[in-house]
Amino acid sequence: MKALIEKLTNVFSPSGFEDAIREVIRKEIKGFADEIHVDALGNLIARKGASAGVRDGKRVMVAAHMDEIGLMVTHVDENGFARFSNVGAVFGRYAPSGRVRFANGAAGVINNELLSNFRETPPLDKMFIDVGATSQKDCPVKLGDVAAFERPFLDLGKRVVAKSLDDRSGVAVLIETLRRLGSGPNEVYFVFTAQEEVGARGAGPAAYGIDPDVAIAVDVTSTGDTPMGRKMEVALGRGPAIKVKDAGMLADPRVVSWMVKTAEKNKIPYQREVLIMGSTDARAIQVTRAGVAAGGVSIPARYVHSPSEMVDMDDVENSVRLLVALLKSRVSL
Ligand code: ZN
Ligand code: CO
Repeated sequence: MKALIEKLTNVFSPSGFEDAIREVIRKEIKGFADEIHVDALGNLIARKGASAGVRDGKRVMVAAHMDEIGLMVTHVDENGFARFSNVGAVFGRYAPSGRVRFANGAAGVINNELLSNFRETPPLDKMFIDVGATSQKDCPVKLGDVAAFERPFLDLGKRVVAKSLDDRSGVAVLIETLRRLGSGPNEVYFVFTAQEEVGARGAGPAAYGIDPDVAIAVDVTSTGDTPMGRKMEVALGRGPAIKVKDAGMLADPRVVSWMVKTAEKNKIPYQREVLIMGSTDARAIQVTRAGVAAGGVSIPARYVHSPSEMVDMDDVENSVRLLVALLKSRVSL
């Protein structure tokens, strides 16, 4: 799983430009799904199992987003410095001195204008990307080019650090779950969604097309386990977090209790998640069509949306175990 996470986090695919990551995932799931297709928004959809209705099964959708936060060039000045806008929630405090990689291979480093108060976090519009150009003419990037943060994968043993663990760790969980699932009573759709970081734009249309009975989003959630950190119960290493609420949704209580019961029955450690800021694909899925029973299995992560996010490999493994158990079970909502 570690090697898979390293491979996935090394791919540059910001929201709306998921071609590269989609092809990597497609190779990883080849031979494990009954049918694979890509929809108009670029969501990669893999079906496993028979049609719902057969043997009392349900149609279950599991989603993890494959996009990552990034930057887009808005202007290149006469000296070859690129100004940029955010693609998704890029925090000013994490950006300066960060390195970025463009889809065309060009790279650069972010820095900022000198501010009168040097302690202040500069806003993104006071920052620029220096790609090593000397003029607008020899600048290898132009208006509309998109970049993602570059930071090497770091193996700390039980814990790993990388860019885009949000949500490539969730993508790895879905891939591994699909590989281990085998046959079961449900028709399961594994959806690797596009454009989550710009407002869960891929998941809703995917869910509309699939029309699931129940849906689970697998994404990261913040933790409260760092020095003087936020007041939050979730901690690294205590198991997957079963979403009860976040800033965008109330998880369906029937889905929450299905998850809790399944975790307890299978002796899988779990925690409960109430997240004050942020949401996931589950929000968009829940309110599509006439409504969908939706919930979330969240991988605890520190430093979310920084180029050095951290997850615990035990939580990743236990998320796979929980999902396999859920998808093999008879769903009675
Ligand atoms: Zn995410
Ligand atoms: Co995110």
